[in-house]
Amino acid sequence: MTSIPTVSFQAVEDLAARFPASFFWGAATSSYQVEGAVAEDGRGPSIWDDFSATPGKVADGQSGALAADHYHRYREDVALMARLGLNAYRFSVAWPRVLPEGRGAVNQAGLDFYDRLVDALLEAGIQPFVTLYHWDLPSVLEREGGWRVRSTAYAFADYAEVVTRRLGDRVLHWMTLNEPWCSAYLGYGVGVHAPGLRDRQAAVDAAHHLLLAHGLALPRMRAVLPAQAQIGTAQVLVKVYGADERPETQRDVALAHAFSNRWFLDPLYRGSYPEGLFAALGLKPPPIEEGDLELIAAPLDFLGVNNYSRMLVRGSPEPPLADQCRTVSPVPNACYTDMAWEIFPQGLRDLLLDVSRDYPVQRLYVTENGAAFPDEWDGGETVHDPRRVAYLASYISACAEALEQGAPLCGYFVWSLLDNFEWAEGYRKRFGIVYVDYASQRRVIKESGLWYAALLQAFRSRCR
Ligand code: FCB
Repeated sequence: MTSIPTVSFQAVEDLAARFPASFFWGAATSSYQVEGAVAEDGRGPSIWDDFSATPGKVADGQSGALAADHYHRYREDVALMARLGLNAYRFSVAWPRVLPEGRGAVNQAGLDFYDRLVDALLEAGIQPFVTLYHWDLPSVLEREGGWRVRSTAYAFADYAEVVTRRLGDRVLHWMTLNEPWCSAYLGYGVGVHAPGLRDRQAAVDAAHHLLLAHGLALPRMRAVLPAQAQIGTAQVLVKVYGADERPETQRDVALAHAFSNRWFLDPLYRGSYPEGLFAALGLKPPPIEEGDLELIAAPLDFLGVNNYSRMLVRGSPEPPLADQCRTVSPVPNACYTDMAWEIFPQGLRDLLLDVSRDYPVQRLYVTENGAAFPDEWDGGETVHDPRRVAYLASYISACAEALEQGAPLCGYFVWSLLDNFEWAEGYRKRFGIVYVDYASQRRVIKESGLWYAALLQAFRSRCR
């Protein structure tokens, strides 16, 4: 489980040379995971504040109340990004900071924070990539039914317009939703994320309303943004492989792929849900109203791909429910991260090639990729994390392969810039290329951060 994966280490110069001069190199975070300051400047509560406060939901009873204190330390963090040589930063806006009641009165102080952050980034030559919804739904909206009800989608569209009006003169890259699969299935279906419901039918309904929120927001954003602005979404996607050649394995690979990837990609790019998906889940279709699917399938400028691992499926004798396909885990001789996610860089290459073949994607960005390992800081200048260096080198090399084989890949974002609040895992899992000592809030660039900086330095000197 813990040995270093075999990767072909290439000099960073060789690796950098495989990416075009226009490539975006970034790191990603999200509001609830890094900001802290949950009760400041008029922010309202979110479902993640509520979920964290519910005993037994988050490891060690932790919450994002302080997190990496980025709300107060954003200047220091932007300086860190500049030191690392990033030319892009992906962050999310907290809906309850902007609209504490979910809709209606705008909290200017909340918006001001993002305004300052965007200015600081641009001053440092870093392009902001903004996600509008990375899971922190205002609590008031959840009390009205959250994503189970249509009205939340309309509230989202209003919120999206408020934010684009304020930041759209400077921010050119926008994502409506982050990983709606997780919001719907983990949040409403199996209850391991906020709001913690265990109702698979509610997950199917929530997924539709999340997609509808995206579809309703798009024209509202386009009406405000300049023509050159790009809008997309960030989806969690996973390449599904079969463990053998049996027909039942092929059948279950298709089922797992429909559940894990096509559930969201098909409506976004084809205007329909995968045939038979809801029956294969043993559930009813969501309440689709006339015109919904047309709105959802409006053209997008890019697809954001969040990817960490792969799925290896072994067919069951009888067809399983689509969310219960049998997987091989652990895979013999494979290496795993601290999340127990298999390290499989070819999976990202194959995934990028698949989506560019199967869907009319104009541009792709890897909007999240990275690894958790149990890093330890000894009080020195850096943190020794060779497995993260190996992970990033192998996955970035897989991105280069995808590019060389024709995927329209335009950027790569490491998850994450900083160690942060890893949802139900609390602070136990460290994903940062920068270590955060939570007691002092000191930031220490890990060796993986230094390696990434060297790659970006090599990239810049080539492009000069
Ligand atoms: C993704 C989430 C992100 C982070 C990583 C590890 O699913 O989008 O917030 O937690 O996983």
